[in-house]
Amino acid sequence: MTGPARNSPAQGSTAQSGTARRIPAQSNRSSQAQSGTAKSARATPGDDRPVIAVSNRLPVQRGEDGGWELSPGGLVTALRPVMATHPGAWVGWDGGTKGMPATLPDSTVRLLPIALSAAQVRDYYRGFANATMWPLLHNAIEKPRFERPWWHAYQEANHIFAERAVAAAEEQPDAIIWVHDYHLMLVPQLIRHRRPVEPIGFFLHVPWPSPDIYARLPWREQILWGLLGADVVAFHTDEYRLNFLRSCVRQLGDFGLEVRGSSVLLPDGRTVVTSTAPISIDAGEFASFATEPEVKDGTGAIEEQFAGRLLLLGADRLDYTKGIIERLLAVEMLLERNPEMRTSVAFLQLAVPSRDDVREYRQLRGTVEQHVGRINGRFTQPGSDVPVHYLYRGLSPQQLAAYYAAADALLVTPLIDGMNLVCKEYVTVQQAAGGSGALVLSEFTGAAVELSQAVLCNPFDVEGLSYRIDQAIALKPEARRKALAAMAEQVRVHDVHAWVSGQLALIAARGASVPVPPAGNPR
Ligand code: ADP
Ligand code: F6P
Repeated sequence: MTGPARNSPAQGSTAQSGTARRIPAQSNRSSQAQSGTAKSARATPGDDRPVIAVSNRLPVQRGEDGGWELSPGGLVTALRPVMATHPGAWVGWDGGTKGMPATLPDSTVRLLPIALSAAQVRDYYRGFANATMWPLLHNAIEKPRFERPWWHAYQEANHIFAERAVAAAEEQPDAIIWVHDYHLMLVPQLIRHRRPVEPIGFFLHVPWPSPDIYARLPWREQILWGLLGADVVAFHTDEYRLNFLRSCVRQLGDFGLEVRGSSVLLPDGRTVVTSTAPISIDAGEFASFATEPEVKDGTGAIEEQFAGRLLLLGADRLDYTKGIIERLLAVEMLLERNPEMRTSVAFLQLAVPSRDDVREYRQLRGTVEQHVGRINGRFTQPGSDVPVHYLYRGLSPQQLAAYYAAADALLVTPLIDGMNLVCKEYVTVQQAAGGSGALVLSEFTGAAVELSQAVLCNPFDVEGLSYRIDQAIALKPEARRKALAAMAEQVRVHDVHAWVSGQLALIAARGASVPVPPAGNPR
């Protein structure tokens, strides 16, 4: 089965039906932060300066209905609300659409779109970014493909992004330049050549693998030099950061580079600081969704649809890193072991279409849909609803919040995930809605470091995973509430506003001026 067994009433009742990621109006928190009072309460050196963000995607894209909607993925979820509270500009690919709005909705941040040719999109974005670097950085769980023409296109595209950022910096000379993610790892060095004293930060939204895996990349030295053009190179976890430092020593040690503590000393005398900074969500915004009437209506409709069943939820970009197949197989084992659950439990997978013109993603979609069909074929009881529901589409944050509030448990089972924001959104909405939902969370996510009260799981052990789901379902409501409260508090305190303030302060303070403690190289 490749669609829901019946129309989800929530589709019609939350936000605009058929709308994907509708751009939310600024939350109370975000709009307050724009006012002088709230801003000065959280002021840091970096908060005062304009920011030029550089990322592959701009935060808005043209939706199927022709309107503008939020682009998919955690990077946009995190950066959009904070960029809206800083003056500056956002440089990114236009996604092939024309007529991009001049500013980010509800803010003065200028959107500076970059047009790429079809060949550049094929070789830089689909090829090098998503078929070479993405699998490589995700522990090579799919085999990275190494193609010279893709590398050349990556270099060319990085030059284009860097030029655009430099032009924006020339208009705003006091700006902090903040480059994001694996698509643009050459950009810091390219900008550094043109603007030698500008503070430049880089944040990697995905993991950094062990030095052995990284060493497979034919262009491993160039990528590292590219990143080391920044003053600050930041990661979600210490594990990724230390892997990066070890890669630097292994690949560039012979060129005179040294690692001291968390800093990298370059042969030219510059110092690059590394930082661990787990990204987060706008917790205030997500908590406020829980009380919006349209979200409550949506939750009510979902609860009605799944009345009499315990609702297990999955929500991801359709990506092979997310462990969706393992999740489905674990649900299948659960239903196999517990015949009564075939009518008392429902599993709903929400999947946002992603990179569907990359071979591995197309194949994944086919496999997921085969499993959904097979499991429903095996376990649907005559006269009863199917146990597995599957929506292949983007939803607005409010629509997602309605599902988060209705779900008794969220299954977050990536084989590897830099952070994972979906689990942070879930605990925030559940807590704000007064729920007692359980979180099953892969220990191979960056989020597992922070959300240790979750039911942690190893998704490579599918049978073990099915028992962890069982365990989560069986938890007493008080135990669930206690865990939920602790996790929601962690997300509330360490929200994306705290993350951005910390990062901008560090970049503004110029990484190079941070004292370097004497310590040996990590091996
Ligand atoms: P990634 O960045 O790899 O996609 P994250 O979990 O960090 O993973 O972020 C995913 C983002 O996508 C979250 O902010 C979540 O709200 C959003 N999302 C998840 N499912 C959907 C969906 N069906 N439609 C739209 N957005 C979704
Ligand atoms: O957060 C990880 C990430 O890869 C972002 O860098 C990216 O923007 C997002 O997921 C969505 O992927 P894409 O831009 O390829 O659609």
